[in-house]
Amino acid sequence: MKITIINGPNLNMLGHREPKIYGTESLEDINTELQTNFSDVRFDFIQSNSESDLINFIHTIKADYIIINPAAFTHTSVAIRDAINSIDIPFYEVHLSNIFTREPFRQHSFFSDKAKAVICGLGKEGYASAVRHIIHNSKR
Ligand code: DQA
Repeated sequence: MKITIINGPNLNMLGHREPKIYGTESLEDINTELQTNFSDVRFDFIQSNSESDLINFIHTIKADYIIINPAAFTHTSVAIRDAINSIDIPFYEVHLSNIFTREPFRQHSFFSDKAKAVICGLGKEGYASAVRHIIHNSKR
């Protein structure tokens, strides 16, 4: 099972960035924990602050599933939406925070209607929940 995990802009600042909203762990901590807890999964982890880098990377993905936290691009990027829909790989949308309890501009996502599932508000557990769902479903 190969899963690519994509994190968008400013998520490289996790641990420092608004810890009350996003927690105190770094993205590296979160990724290491995923690899440790799901040692049978082959993960690729990518984080970028650049929309064009994310698009170019998405075009090259070879994986069974994608888990993506598009961060601020969730609410703005038709281009990343088109990129992920241009490859035939199912994806899960994850947000650390509950975007529906925050500013109104965060309540629209350009990804949710195409996602297999949307998980938000569970913090880092959102990524693990998506992985668990993928594993459980692929065994059926
Ligand atoms: C986020 C929510 C977005 O609105 C925000 O721009 C982020 C992170 C989250 O994980 O809660 O950068 O995707």
